[in-house]
Amino acid sequence: RSTRIYDFKVQTMTVTKLCNTKEIVTINKMFPGPVVYAQENDRIIVKVTNETPFNATIHWHGVRQKLSCWFDGPSYITQCPIQAGQTFTYEFTLVKQKGTFFWHAHVSWLRATVYGAIVVYPKTGVPYPFKHPFEEHIVILGEYWLRDVLQLERQVLASGGGSPPADAFTINGHPGPDYNCSSNDVYKIDVVPGKTYLLRLINAGLNMENFFAIANHKLTIVEADAEYTKPFTTDRVMLGPGQTMNVLVTADQPIGKYSMAMGPYMSAQNVAFQNISAIAYFQYLGAVPNSVSLPAELPSFNDNLAVKTVMDGLRSLNPVNVPKEIDTSLFVTVGLNVNKCQSKIPQQNCQGPNNGTFAASMNNISFVKPTISVLEAYYKKIGGHFTEDFPDAPLKFYDFVNGAPNNAPNNTQAINGTRTKVLEFGSRVQLIFQDTGTFSTENHPIHLHGYSFYVVGYGTGNFNPQTANFNLIDPPYMNTIGVPVGGWAVIRFVADNPGVWFMHCHLDIHQSWGLGAVLIVKNGKGELETLPHPPADLPRC
Ligand code: C2O
Repeated sequence: RSTRIYDFKVQTMTVTKLCNTKEIVTINKMFPGPVVYAQENDRIIVKVTNETPFNATIHWHGVRQKLSCWFDGPSYITQCPIQAGQTFTYEFTLVKQKGTFFWHAHVSWLRATVYGAIVVYPKTGVPYPFKHPFEEHIVILGEYWLRDVLQLERQVLASGGGSPPADAFTINGHPGPDYNCSSNDVYKIDVVPGKTYLLRLINAGLNMENFFAIANHKLTIVEADAEYTKPFTTDRVMLGPGQTMNVLVTADQPIGKYSMAMGPYMSAQNVAFQNISAIAYFQYLGAVPNSVSLPAELPSFNDNLAVKTVMDGLRSLNPVNVPKEIDTSLFVTVGLNVNKCQSKIPQQNCQGPNNGTFAASMNNISFVKPTISVLEAYYKKIGGHFTEDFPDAPLKFYDFVNGAPNNAPNNTQAINGTRTKVLEFGSRVQLIFQDTGTFSTENHPIHLHGYSFYVVGYGTGNFNPQTANFNLIDPPYMNTIGVPVGGWAVIRFVADNPGVWFMHCHLDIHQSWGLGAVLIVKNGKGELETLPHPPADLPRC
């Protein structure tokens, strides 16, 4: 095993995009940021120095951080932000992990421009479980904002209303030819006819789930969330923010220039949405360079069936070890709420439906980040920062709520709290996510830190234990699960990684509204079951 050392400087950089010049926050003045390359079981050391006036943290999305919770990165969950001028060194081992991951800022909406890929190859001499590709390419889906994103977040939260869509979608930072002033701001892969390419897809977008397709070409999924899957061939894929997927593409079409396109998957029922998309080129050697590319066919923005088809295709390649029995089962509603507007000034911050303010919650608790990290408060037994009473089911259970889009247990009035669920070390845990909402249901990409989990079942409508079908044979092993719109998903894992782990919707606007909760996994007995001491340079709040 080797050690990979990286130097990350959080720096602002001036960029011109979409006819507009502005400053963005980056790592090492790169957008997207530098790629972290490693091999399975490697040690990673990244020294992060914050040279901007903004708070920063870096999260290593999908890295399970076995016994290294201190380096996970979510602000106010496992660490205080790295303040202007400060340095924090992240150190962790990729224990039995390989594949496509990504790193991103995990404080306010800084992730909008602060993200990059992590590529972990198998151990030396270990081949991929598929024919070795001719070349590999990283393809990061993102969103680009002309406004200052940190300001935008504050404005959206203060308004009580929704967030405007991004000004552009991007592929590896490039919006593509359909946007103003962007005919040369296009990502391109040059391909040799007949060869097979591995694309490492990452959705780093802030607030949108996305379809991805290449004109006239099939995609064969071979990995999802950095775990191998049985090969599944499809015309398009969908990735929620936080999801990664490796696909094989063979250049088996007539020589030409083909579009690679990403476009929105917007399942919310009451949102009228204009299809916008980002385009990149999949261009054959010998194609006429300036020719118009063949358009890729993306599903319509509300095509739930297209999403289900991809999900149905995700099956673990290798034999899996799904817990057959469970010790702890939690029913967790995930949903959007409208809370009664508290403002004395009408129209001021009551921009949500029915003059309310938008909120989001799990089991009717809107998560509020504390002022020091939950992990530090837990570890040092500092009281007053969180409670241990996250409920095992929604606080209130309504069967039918007037005007609710489905009859799922509903959360008309969420309450604020920093509530955690404490789990015994080694316990076998099941979480049943139920999408709900008082004004809209929506597919929520729920991400769990510190673990991968088996997605044993999912479906539409309300979860019903009598009729739910579980796959305990070859379910995918993921870290982010899109809970179907108005539906449910069930995950299982063994709580064998002690620490404080954030679980949240990876759409940042929902996270800001409180769609999250914290799981605390207690220490076990042995040394390899115990969280080590905090690092000396851990930032202070
Ligand atoms: Cu990729 Cu808590 O995030």
